[in-house]
Amino acid sequence: MRVTILGASGLLGKELMRHWLGDELVGLGSKDADLRDADRVSEAVEKSRPDWIVLSAAYTNVDGCENHPELAFAVNRDGPVNVARVAKRIGAKLLFLSSDYVFDGKKTSPYEAEDRRDPRSVYGRSKAEAEVQLLEMLPEVCIARTSWLFGTGGKCFPDTILKLASSRPALDVVNDQRGDPTYAVDLAKAIIELCRKDASGIVHVTNAGECSWFEFAREIIRGAGLATEVRPVSSEQMTRPAPRPAYSVLSAKSLQAHGISMPTWQDALWRYLQERKC
Ligand SMILES: NC(=O)c1ccc[n+]([C@@H]2O[C@H](COP(=O)([O-])OP(=O)(O)OC[C@H]3O[C@@H](n4cnc5c(N)ncnc54)[C@H](OP(=O)(O)O)[C@@H]3O)[C@@H](O)[C@H]2O)c1
Repeated sequence: MRVTILGASGLLGKELMRHWLGDELVGLGSKDADLRDADRVSEAVEKSRPDWIVLSAAYTNVDGCENHPELAFAVNRDGPVNVARVAKRIGAKLLFLSSDYVFDGKKTSPYEAEDRRDPRSVYGRSKAEAEVQLLEMLPEVCIARTSWLFGTGGKCFPDTILKLASSRPALDVVNDQRGDPTYAVDLAKAIIELCRKDASGIVHVTNAGECSWFEFAREIIRGAGLATEVRPVSSEQMTRPAPRPAYSVLSAKSLQAHGISMPTWQDALWRYLQERKC
């Protein structure tokens, strides 16, 4: 199988490149093919002649998207449309990475793949609109929604917490937003399996279990053997430009339907902390 990864230099992309063994891989970053440049995308993807395209590239700064909506929609909605167009022309399958932010966060039980999209932020809207357009253009597209991504390949919540903990005696962390932390290594492995199983449709791919950011931070500090105090605060006390869903836990049913299950986030965090030490 020939696979082209767009976003190969990102947190997830690096793990896809590291763990995808036994197939022929081409990894592209924004310098190789900016998603906004349809001709360049077409040229770079066509040259790599993929059976599968994994579209992990995105403008992922949620607050940046809120402040720069034109850029957010150009990269996160129009970019994927450029990729879908070339996928259709050359007959390649496409797996698109999407987000829990396509939901409003008002539910109190895990979101199913078929639940109604109702994004509250520009980032969430850009991802939701991309999903709708890709499903129209490529009925066989696979949309993998994930959340709260962490890993050693880039900036992420555990890394920020550990850096702050080294210089502060106490940390305030929001306790009224719940979600699923997801280790980029586990997500990469699930994506590889989904492609090998020729998956299509919307699939939720996160580590198992749920927590608040406060609970996640407490576990990070505990796992790293630090004594830093972690204090729960409300979202109102920590205002950010983009609204975050209060509850964005994604149900594992759609992934289990493909015969794939994920380790718990606590297990994943432990492995991340071991890897970070190396
Ligand atoms: N991070 C999360 O918590 C999270 C949660 C839910 C869903 N997701 C989704 O999961 C996917 C992977 O996220 P991630 O955290 O691995 O992302 P990331 O670390 O921010 O990496 C983003 C990647 O996209 C590329 N990129 C950015 N702008 C581009 C452009 N205009 N044209 C082409 N490539 C561009 C970057 O390339 P350069 O390095 O060359 O600039 C980089 O390879 C994304 O689709 C994201 O929306 C992430």
